[in-house]
Parts: sequence; C-alpha cells; structure tokens
Amino acid sequence: MTSSLNSPQNRKSRRVLVTGGAGFIGANFVHYWCRRYPGDRLVVLDALTYAGNPQNLASLEGNENYRFVPGNICDRPLVETLLKEEAIDTVAHFAAESHVDRSILGPAAFIQTNVVGSFTLLEAFRNHWQTLPVPNSGERGPIFLHVSTDEVYGSLGPEDPGFTEQTPYAPNSPYSASKAGSDHLARAYYHTYGLPTLITNCSNNYGPYHFPEKLIPLMCINMLLGKPLPVYGDGQNIRDWLYVEDHCRGLDVVIHQGTPGETYNIGGNNEVKNIDLVRMLCQLMDELAPDLPVRPCESLMTFVKDRPGHDRRYAIDATKIKTELGWTPTVTVEEGLRQTVQWYLAHQEWWRPLLSPEYQDYYRQVYAN
Ligand code: NAD
Ligand code: DAU
Repeated sequence: MTSSLNSPQNRKSRRVLVTGGAGFIGANFVHYWCRRYPGDRLVVLDALTYAGNPQNLASLEGNENYRFVPGNICDRPLVETLLKEEAIDTVAHFAAESHVDRSILGPAAFIQTNVVGSFTLLEAFRNHWQTLPVPNSGERGPIFLHVSTDEVYGSLGPEDPGFTEQTPYAPNSPYSASKAGSDHLARAYYHTYGLPTLITNCSNNYGPYHFPEKLIPLMCINMLLGKPLPVYGDGQNIRDWLYVEDHCRGLDVVIHQGTPGETYNIGGNNEVKNIDLVRMLCQLMDELAPDLPVRPCESLMTFVKDRPGHDRRYAIDATKIKTELGWTPTVTVEEGLRQTVQWYLAHQEWWRPLLSPEYQDYYRQVYAN
C-alpha cells in the first residue's frame, strides 16, 4: 500500500535523468517533478526531433537544479558522461518515436530510438549504477523507469477484460513492436544483471503540449482552422484516455514505491469510442471558442481510410498499481477534455509554429486518399 516514500518532506533528494523531456509526456513530467520535488537535480536529455520542443521547458530556464542537454540516447559516450558527471541515481526514460502512423510510413527510426536507444541507456546505466553509494537502510536505491505503452498487448475484443500485467504481448504496429522490444530488454536487465528496472504500460494520454499529429490536438486544431476532422475507418475504435498529470503521479509512485523488476499498468478507466470522443470535442469547442470558421464543428467530421493494422480496443486493468501503490486516476474525461480544449484555445502561439512545411508534408502522406 501507499507509504511516505514519495512525500516531499520525508525523502532524500534524487538526481534524475529524464530522456525525451522536451516531448509531450516528458515535459509534463518535468514540470510536475520540479513543482513537487524542487530540491531534486533534473537533467533532461532530448534529441529535439520534430516532436521535441524547447518551448515546452522554456519556463524552467534559470532554475539552478535543472539542466537541458540536447543529444541522442543512442550516443553512448554522451549518456555515460552525463550519468557520471551528474551522479544520476534515477532514470525516467520517455524518449521514443511515439506515433503509430509515422511508424507505418517509416519504421527504421522506431527501431533505432526505441530499441537501440533503450538498449544504449540500459547498458550505460548498468555500468554506472554500481558506482553509486549504497543507500542507507530504508532509503530508496537507484531506479531505471522505462515508460511504455498498453499498445504492446495488442487489441481487445468488445467483451474482453482490460489488459493486466499478465496479458501476453501481441504488438501490431512497428511502433508497438519496437516498444515491446525495449520492454523485454528492461525486464531482462533486471533478471540478468539485477539492474533495478521498473516498467509502466500506460493507456492514451492527453493534455497540454500534445503534438498536433495525435487525435485530440489534431481535432482541436482542425476545428480552430475550419478543416475536416478525419475519423479513421468507422470511428468505433476504443481508447482508454488518461489525463497526462494523472500519468505523472502514477510514475511518481512507481519510482518511489514500485518493486524493482515489476511492471505496472496505468490507465484512465475512461474507455471512449473515437467517434464519441470527437463529438465531445466538437461540443466543447462550439461552447468555448468565441469565433470559429465553421460551426457546428460536427459538420467538419469526415470518415477517412482506416489506419493499417488499426487496433480495435485498448483498456487497462489498473488494479495492481491501485492495490499495491495506492494510485488511481483523478481527472474525469469530461473535465480533462474541457481543460485540454481551453489549453489549445489559449496557446495558439504554441501550436501554430508546429504546422511547419514538414508537418504539412507528413499530413498529406497520411490523409491523402
Ligand atoms: P513524444 O513523441 O511527444 O516525445 C518524444 C520525445 O523524445 C521528444 O521530445 C523527442 O525529441 C525525444 N526523442 C526522440 N528520439 C530521441 C532520441 N533518439 N534521443 C533523445 N530524445 C529523443 O512522445 P510522448 O507521447 O511524450 O511519449 C513519451 C513516452 O511515453 C514514449 O516512450 C511513449 O512510448 C510512451 N507512452 C506514450 C503515451 C501517449 O499517449 N502519448 C502513452 C503511453 C506511453
Ligand atoms: O495507447 C497508448 C498509445 O496512445 C501511445 O503508446 C502512443 O504513443 C500514442 O500515440 C497513442 O497511440 P494511438 O494510436 O492510440 O493514438 P492516436 O492519437 O494516434 O490515435 C487515437 C485513435 O484515434 C486511434 O484509434 C486512431 C484514431 N485517429 C487518429 C488520428 C491521428 C483517427 O481516427 N484520426 C486521426 O486523424
């Protein structure tokens, strides 16, 4: 059950390397962690791919406990140097190629970052962690948290129970296959070398800093631009939505209280069909946006060619993290979507520059049919 290990008052400060901290969840995690544990050292390593955005972390510049390092997780000498010079005792590994549609267009980058990059980090941390001081009794030792996805479990039928930590892996896209590969490596490093790895498999996140290519930001932005809202296939696919701040709290308890070598599923208990989610977003936008090029937003909904290998349904059974670590989601999908729509309305200066010529090129490739 819950303990006070992650209570800011009762803990020794940690020295955390966050990979992929300039991306969507990584940036939310960095802000969450700086607020909750201001005495911790936080080093962000991010290659600033198309999905990495220094603006996501700009407000932390000048914070003396925070350092941003542009660089690739596949760069072993760089990773080794950082681990050593910063005396890192905690790795929170978010860096990844994360978008399924891009993995269908070009899988190579997914294998490189998600598999080879994760392997590089694990190897470097394996050499490093034993050089760290032995923790005092009752103190939390070094941790390598590998942040992963529910997509590794494949697709559920309409009546199937949610994914548990025992569900066999059955990835269906190059993205999920590459994440499955990295999960297996993280697990193997615990069993073979005793490296204190933890794996989390989480459902679909949403909230601030979500890159425009993903369903929720894409729909919000297209509504604001008066563009068609492309729903894949029949729109009946189901995802289990989790507000990103709830995910960050889940990762916090896993880092502080999870049993090394274990996996924890994290989910929102919020299964929604895509078509219903888009309708909810349309209603929120009609209500909240003062001037829209096209109204009602639902008139922009368009069914388009389905994603190849499109998983029908994801749902997480989060019983283990609830009973063992006391975590449950707190934000309902209604509240979370309202906050998210408000965020995209209020942060046009954040998303407009992301609609670059490269992004338009990607968009044409995926949505041309
Ligand atoms: P994202 O695409 O928004 O961000 C990925 C970040 O990693 C970017 O900042 C990018 O620059 C960086 N990066 C990519 N390749 C790199 C490399 N080789 N070296 C260093 N940095 C690199 O992704 P996200 O949605 O924030 O996802 C973060 C992690 O959480 C991923 O591992 C993803 O698999 C996992 N996850 C995501 C979701 C979700 O709904 N988004 C759900 C469950 C798990
Ligand atoms: O389940 C966790 C995963 O959630 C993460 O591991 C991934 O990194 C993250 O991208 C997300 O994957 P999905 O493929 O579920 O998310 P996406 O936002 O791309 O799509 C959500 C659903 O919406 C999916 O069923 C496909 C559909 N969709 C998506 C887009 C971009 C559409 O119908 N139209 C679209 O234009």
